[in-house]
Amino acid sequence: MIWTICLLVQAALLYFILTHRSRSKSEPPLDKGLIPWLGHALEFGKDASKFLSRMKLKHGDIFTVRAAGRYVTVLLDPHSYDEAIKDSECLDFTRYAQVLMERIFNLRLPHHQPHKAKAMMTKHFMGMNLDALNSTVSRHLQALLKAEMPQNRKDWKEEGLFDFSYSLLFKAGYLTLFGGEQNNNSSDPSSVYEEYKKFDGLLTKMARGTLKPEEKRTAHSVQQRLWELLAPAGLTEDSGSSPWLHGYRRLLQEEGADEDTQRKAILMQLWATQGNVGPATFWLLGYLLTNPEALMAVKREFSQISQMETSETPLTDRLMNTPVFGSALEEALRLTAAPFITREVVKEKTLHMADGQEYLLRKGDRMCLFPFISPQMDPEIYHEPQKYKYNRFLNEDGSVKKHFYKGGRRLKYYTMPWGAGTNGCVGKQFAINTIRQFVYMVLTNYDLELCDPNAQMPEVNASRYGFGMLQPEGDLLVRYKLRNTH
Ligand code: HEM
Repeated sequence: MIWTICLLVQAALLYFILTHRSRSKSEPPLDKGLIPWLGHALEFGKDASKFLSRMKLKHGDIFTVRAAGRYVTVLLDPHSYDEAIKDSECLDFTRYAQVLMERIFNLRLPHHQPHKAKAMMTKHFMGMNLDALNSTVSRHLQALLKAEMPQNRKDWKEEGLFDFSYSLLFKAGYLTLFGGEQNNNSSDPSSVYEEYKKFDGLLTKMARGTLKPEEKRTAHSVQQRLWELLAPAGLTEDSGSSPWLHGYRRLLQEEGADEDTQRKAILMQLWATQGNVGPATFWLLGYLLTNPEALMAVKREFSQISQMETSETPLTDRLMNTPVFGSALEEALRLTAAPFITREVVKEKTLHMADGQEYLLRKGDRMCLFPFISPQMDPEIYHEPQKYKYNRFLNEDGSVKKHFYKGGRRLKYYTMPWGAGTNGCVGKQFAINTIRQFVYMVLTNYDLELCDPNAQMPEVNASRYGFGMLQPEGDLLVRYKLRNTH
């Protein structure tokens, strides 16, 4: 009896220690949830958008929630985002992707590596090398599309749009950056894609540590297989990989990363560079196909470009000035890009909100922005935010619209698919160029249509909020064939 009482007292004490945290007056509203330690983790993981919208209604634009032992302060006022994005003294620049990958792979990169790797990426993806990347990816896209649909095939081919977009863009991106040849079995892009899709499907569960035993085994073997497939990538200068990947490998080696760390880091880069473009293209094409007026407008803009086809300027350059396409893409991303932007609070910080309120952030907590809720889906900023309106980002005179308002004040951040500040996406321009080239090729050279003309866009897979581009639950069936131009 006495032992039972002792155990109960100990359990109660432990519960108290694990759950005790009270809000001081200067801190944001605190919501620990009912479950000790776990807090809101389950609801957060199941559908972060729904959960954070509920918390916003309850607490307002800033609040702290407990999730799996961590305290996360969520900020949802875009007028105050700079407070989190610009403060590198109190808030550590930690990429969410990196945090996840570290958790999934138990990956420990050398201390200096992330900064040097970033500088290297900026050089390769944003500088002079961008033109070379654009034309390489264009060449691969053309060849892959041709292989899908040979010139002599005249009938329709049916496919899920998500699979179609993801597989072709993944393979073209993989060939461009990681090298390897078609039909060379050690690094055949189709095998890499097949394995990668399985890995991607388990990603959210891996990151949250909620894999079932069977899934754990699959995840393990898929990672092994991917590591084998990626083993040659970037190793030698003639491995067919991009100069970026070769440089990245050298950097890892110079910093003393062992084989195991190297292969994990290369897989992380595969995820960072290939995980978003295919899904983004799916949403864009899906919205265009289900909104005929939008499709017509983009096709009209592209047809003006294709009429200049005989001119001296290469296609990649002619495709630069496409405001209608730009707006159509921006709008698709507004609706489906949902990354968390996170920071580690490394030094106690007073956060000054745009409305004049001040809040104290505790060292050791995490800070999280979720631009998907605001600005992107905020009805005060976007009328009927759930609706796809291809010309939302165009002014009446056809120029790019950059003025959006909340509370009567112009917003600096009105949509944030690429993140912002120091850890914003370095591949943004390359990604936009790739998507534009692909959509151009498909819409000018092929007839592409919905199998069911009344089909609607599929629902979103709610477990992926926070992981970058969303993915659909199911697919949208389309058919395509070579256009009869002659
Ligand atoms: C539609 C496509 C894409 C979207 C929506 C996207 C979005 C993002 C976002 C939101 C981040 C910041 C993540 C964070 O805060 O942790 C990011 C980071 C990054 N992206 Fe992209 N991205 C795309 C395509 C690409 C491509 C094609 C590349 C490279 C070829 C790329 C390379 C990177 C890298 C290297 C980072 C990390 C930057 C750093 O370490 O600071 N992305 N991307």
